Amino acid sequence: MNSTLRLAAVLLLLVPACGGTETDLGSESAALPCDVESVLAASCRQCHGASPKFGAPAPLVTRGDLLAPAVSDPSKRMIDLVTARIHDERRPMPPTGLLSEAELAILDGWAAAGTPAGSSKCEATGEGGGGGGGGGGGPPKVHCTPDLTLEPAAPYVMPKDVADEYVCYGVTARLDQKRHVTALVPRIDNSTILHHALLYKTEEAWPAEPAPCAGSDIAFLNGQLLAVWSPGGQALELPPEAGLPIEGDTHFVVQMHYSNLRSLDGQQDSSGYDLCTTEDLRPNDAATVPFGASRFEIPAHGALDMTCDYKIPEGAGSFNVIAAMPHMHELGTHISSTILPSGSGEPVDLGRVDPWNFDNQVWYTIDATFKEGDTVRTRCAWENPGSTDVIWGERTNDEMCYSFVMYYPPITLGSWSWPIPGLTSLCAPTP
Ligand code: HEC
Repeated sequence: MNSTLRLAAVLLLLVPACGGTETDLGSESAALPCDVESVLAASCRQCHGASPKFGAPAPLVTRGDLLAPAVSDPSKRMIDLVTARIHDERRPMPPTGLLSEAELAILDGWAAAGTPAGSSKCEATGEGGGGGGGGGGGPPKVHCTPDLTLEPAAPYVMPKDVADEYVCYGVTARLDQKRHVTALVPRIDNSTILHHALLYKTEEAWPAEPAPCAGSDIAFLNGQLLAVWSPGGQALELPPEAGLPIEGDTHFVVQMHYSNLRSLDGQQDSSGYDLCTTEDLRPNDAATVPFGASRFEIPAHGALDMTCDYKIPEGAGSFNVIAAMPHMHELGTHISSTILPSGSGEPVDLGRVDPWNFDNQVWYTIDATFKEGDTVRTRCAWENPGSTDVIWGERTNDEMCYSFVMYYPPITLGSWSWPIPGLTSLCAPTP
């Protein structure tokens, strides 16, 4: 008796839902279960929103979006690529690194259960699908007003039929007196196609019109990498004791990485960097140094894992670290760098990215010192699935192994120059 009654009650509850209007049915099947909804809102939609950003190929907003054919492989559904990419250490989604175990379990569990529709509106998660740790959220905040704008002579127009392009332009600042750069602020114009931006200071001028530059060699211009932006990236502000000196004709090159996987027509971009500079010089000049290696060869269909030691020369003095940024190109799998003090004292971690993630390059703020006699140890590892050997270089198909360190005061030994640590470090296979 009792169970029959209960069955009747369940049927009654079901009837209104089944008999709803067509629109109800539509939104019902479009709805995602609330736990899936909140993972996607918090970790994916700053790029995969209703209008995808930063080169993301498709929205991940409705259940229909997840069941639609994938852009890169229409024989699969988006959800099939989602469950692959959220576990892919080499090319993780989100690009900043793997989700937590709990979040992975939610997406995996939903796929394994056959992607059932959610039943109703979910409680707001507070994230609103917007910011969520990077990508959205407006321009990065700094405590100064930028006064030097690095922008292209004209916007770059991304061709509809090109999925991926590296584009460069140059800016020359003509300064009548020495100034200090105190902050580097990425300025993102068209977030639909912009994927990364790099800022170099070079010794020669580069054309002001933006143009493809994937094969060009910025190293030839003695390019010093000053900043890297990827979605969610922040500005770098120097501490009040130091500024990056610029003087006379100062040449910058901005390199953009665009991604147009949706073949959008007429996408234009004028992204660049805004710099805060001051003629009210700070007590110290800051400088950057690339610790690591600039001589190596990663065999075709092979791998390389090496550890390189560079000893700070005697007589150099002692230095304060402001920030460090590990940097490799797309074949990298691991990078880590440590200062090993010559006397007593704890090793200083300059950053470790394992697995290496090309899409998440940042300056780590570091408050530490190093001095003559200390050793900077950098480990890099790569895998090369291609059929040609890969060597050091600044072209996008070459590789890198650097921990860029921003520090002050600059090393002034007579024999010192920018590439010295990379050229003279002692490298051996990682034990
Ligand atoms: C910072 C921006 C960003 C975030 C956050 C992000 N993605 Fe992506 N996603 C991209 C970009 C750019 C691509 C295209 C390049 C690539 O495939 O790596 C992409 C591609 C993908 C693809 C491949 C689609 C295809 O057709 O090949 C999947 C699947 C995916 N993302 C899922 C996710 C999921 C799931 C999340 C959240 C857990 C997420 N992404 C978070 C930027 C992002």
